[in-house]
Amino acid sequence: MSAPAAYSHFGIEVAAYDATIVRYIPHYRELLDTIAGWLVGHVPEGGLVIDLGAGTGALAATVAAALPTATLELVDADAGMLAAARTRLGDAARVRTRQADFAEPLPPCAAVVASLALHHVAEPAAKQALYAAIHAALAPGGVLLIGDCVLHDRGPGEARVRAAWAAHMQAHGMTAAEAAEAFARWDAEDHYLPLATELDLLAAAGFARPDVYWRRGPCAVYGGFRE
Ligand SMILES: C[S@@+](CC[C@H](N)C(=O)[O-])C[C@H]1O[C@@H](n2cnc3c(N)ncnc32)[C@H](O)[C@@H]1O
Repeated sequence: MSAPAAYSHFGIEVAAYDATIVRYIPHYRELLDTIAGWLVGHVPEGGLVIDLGAGTGALAATVAAALPTATLELVDADAGMLAAARTRLGDAARVRTRQADFAEPLPPCAAVVASLALHHVAEPAAKQALYAAIHAALAPGGVLLIGDCVLHDRGPGEARVRAAWAAHMQAHGMTAAEAAEAFARWDAEDHYLPLATELDLLAAAGFARPDVYWRRGPCAVYGGFRE
């Protein structure tokens, strides 16, 4: 699980990230809103929410709006992305950033969230270890919510989902060749697992009832509560 020195994933420069990610990822806004919505009622007043791979802070800003009293910690390996997140979220005392790898220890918290970030963890064993560390950091009743692409290279649904994904990119101004080039680049860089495998890793890491809270196109929101 190596931390990137400078962020270039999805081929996006930091300054262009927010405008570009919605062209690449179908239903991105809905994914963020789903995660924030599922936090409501499960984070006590002042409770800490950790956003892993926070990037430019789109998810953290959505969570901050949904939970006006929560404290937020944005974790990311990339200093440029965190600088953009600080600009977006302002210097509110309840928001802090930490430049760190996912593998570094987590403080005790009420919730952990991540959007389009944990597919950077290459090995399933490392992902299970990360899920176990998150489970240990969560207070009883705390929740892990992951929004990510779960497209994988087996099964009859794959071609159908990819076609709809490519159509989304083309509807947002990309050519078919550019969409194909993006898929080729992501296939080489990213580590998407079948959703069933993700649920198995969560269960093995200690989440008693891992579940899927939303799924649309190539993306899903899944995770579990610490019981
Ligand atoms: C595609 S961006 C997603 C950003 C944001 N969560 C969003 O929804 O747009 C993935 C982020 O994960 C960060 N990242 C990737 N691998 C990491 C690692 N091993 N440790 C910490 N951050 C990492 C990258 O720097 C990047 O900001």
